[in-house]
Amino acid sequence: MPRLDHFDFLAPLYDKLFSAPTGDHLAALTKLPCEGLLLDVGGGTGRIAQGLVGRVDQIVVADASRRMLSQTRNKPGLQAVMCLAEDLPFASGCMARVISVDTYHHLADQQQSLQELWRVLAPDGIRVVEEPDIEHLGVKLLALVERVLMMRSHFVRSERLADDLKALGAEVEVVKEQYNYWVVARKE
Ligand SMILES: C[S@@+](CC[C@H](N)C(=O)[O-])C[C@H]1O[C@@H](n2cnc3c(N)ncnc32)[C@H](O)[C@@H]1O
Repeated sequence: MPRLDHFDFLAPLYDKLFSAPTGDHLAALTKLPCEGLLLDVGGGTGRIAQGLVGRVDQIVVADASRRMLSQTRNKPGLQAVMCLAEDLPFASGCMARVISVDTYHHLADQQQSLQELWRVLAPDGIRVVEEPDIEHLGVKLLALVERVLMMRSHFVRSERLADDLKALGAEVEVVKEQYNYWVVARKE
């Protein structure tokens, strides 16, 4: 398990620093409501997943930080699982939806996590990756700050992520809006 000191440190403050969106935009991209399980990987405090409660049968928030997940456990409708995105304790094809928000650039092994998240996604499932768009000047500054803080972040362009998902057999769409992009991948 890697050291995740930054998120362990931030955990009690995280929801105060970053507001929770309604979930409507993500729900539209993820084609919710739907039946089955939704996995929010690198879901942290459950800040994002809480906006999706009631739109899918069950929501699992998976994260490597025990202290981030301790905040998730206070939120109704969310199940917290401590694990790495690169090595998930879930059966192949068991997730109807897989999302990650502001997490991909923090993953130690992005290629391994892409394959692992694709493995757990069900046929006809949808995977949505929300990331800060490194082509935006503000995000370049954020990347610099994260480098100074030694967060070992690795931001990728949406086109690169889309190509990597296509290589796994996904049908991919990219949506961009201000500082963020969303890569929406469908599994046939
Ligand atoms: C910037 S936070 C985003 C949290 C949440 N998605 C949100 O938007 O509120 C990134 C999260 O990724 C988690 N993380 C980093 N590397 C991870 C890994 N390899 N596997 C699982 N979670 C990881 C961190 O613990 C942290 O909670």
